[in-house]
Amino acid sequence: MKILLATQKPFAAAAVAGIREIVEAAGHELVAFEKYAEQSDLVAAVADADAMIIRSDKVTAEVLDAAKKLRIVVRAGAGYDNVDLAAATAHGVVVENTPGQNSNAVAELAIAMMIFMARTQFTPTTGSEIQGKTLGIQAFGNVGRLVGRKAAALGMKVKAIDPFLPDEKIVEGGAEPAASLEDLYATSDYVSIHIPATPETIGSIGYDLITKMPKGATLVNTARKEVIDEAGLEKALEDRPDLKYVTDVAPDNLPVLKEKFGLRVFATPKKMGAQSAEANVNAGLAAARQIVAFFESGCTKFQVNR
Ligand code: 3PG
Repeated sequence: MKILLATQKPFAAAAVAGIREIVEAAGHELVAFEKYAEQSDLVAAVADADAMIIRSDKVTAEVLDAAKKLRIVVRAGAGYDNVDLAAATAHGVVVENTPGQNSNAVAELAIAMMIFMARTQFTPTTGSEIQGKTLGIQAFGNVGRLVGRKAAALGMKVKAIDPFLPDEKIVEGGAEPAASLEDLYATSDYVSIHIPATPETIGSIGYDLITKMPKGATLVNTARKEVIDEAGLEKALEDRPDLKYVTDVAPDNLPVLKEKFGLRVFATPKKMGAQSAEANVNAGLAAARQIVAFFESGCTKFQVNR
C-alpha cells in the first residue's frame, strides 16, 4: 500500500524515520510529502494514496474526491476539525486520530504561556508569580488534565469544567469542579482553553465570558482560534485594560490586537503546541502503527467518523 505522509508542517526527522521503519517493515511504501506550498499540491499528491498520515493538513471534499484509492486517514494528533468527516464517510474512508500522543507538549506550552504573560513577555518590568493563583481549565481531557497536574505542582489552585465529565472524574483528575462555565471564568486568574472546534464551540468564548474574569486575569488558548469570538475578545480587552490574552493560534485580528493592546496580547507565529520532537515521535509512530493495524486486521479502534 502507498502511505502518504502529508505534512505541510513537517515532523522532526527522527519521527519520519520511525514512521518509515514501521510502514516498510509491514511491507508498505511511505511517500513523504512535506512543506507543500498549496492545497492544490495536496489534491494532486493524493491521487494514488491508499492511506494518509496528516497533521493540521486540510482533508477537504476536494482532496477526498481526488483520492480514488484512499481507505484511511490518520490525523497524527488530537483535533480533527481539519478533516471533512461527512465527505470521508461518504467516500467510505476511515478517519482516525491519535488521542493523547501529543498532549504533554501542548500542556507544557500552556504552562509556559502563563509564566510568559505573568512576567510581561520577559520584558524587564515587575511581573507576578503563578503560585497561589487559580487556574480554570475549560475541558478536562488529555491536555486539560496534564495542564492541571503541572499547575498544581507549581502551587496553583486548579478548577475545571467539562460538559462530558461528571464532577467525580474532575475530582479524580485532581481539580475542583466549577459550578458552571461562567463560574470558572469568574473565579480564575488564568483560564486555559482545551475544547475542540465544533459547530457548538465555534465563537463560543466572547465578550460576556471573558469580562467575567477577575482583575488582572489571563486567557490562554492552546486549542483552536475558531472557538474565540474575535470581535468580542477585542471589545473585552478594550473595556478591561487589566485582562490579557495569549494564544498558540493567532487570531485573524492579531495585527489590530497587537497595535491596540501591546504586551497584553501574544500569539505564536505558527501553531507550535505539539511541535516537540517527543510529540512528533509519539503521534507519528502511533499513526503509522494504526495504519499498519488497519491493513493487517481491519482494526479501527481510533475511528472518529463512525
Ligand atoms: C492537535 O490537534 O493535535 C494539535 O493542535 C496539534 O496540531 P499540529 O499537528 O498541526 O501541530
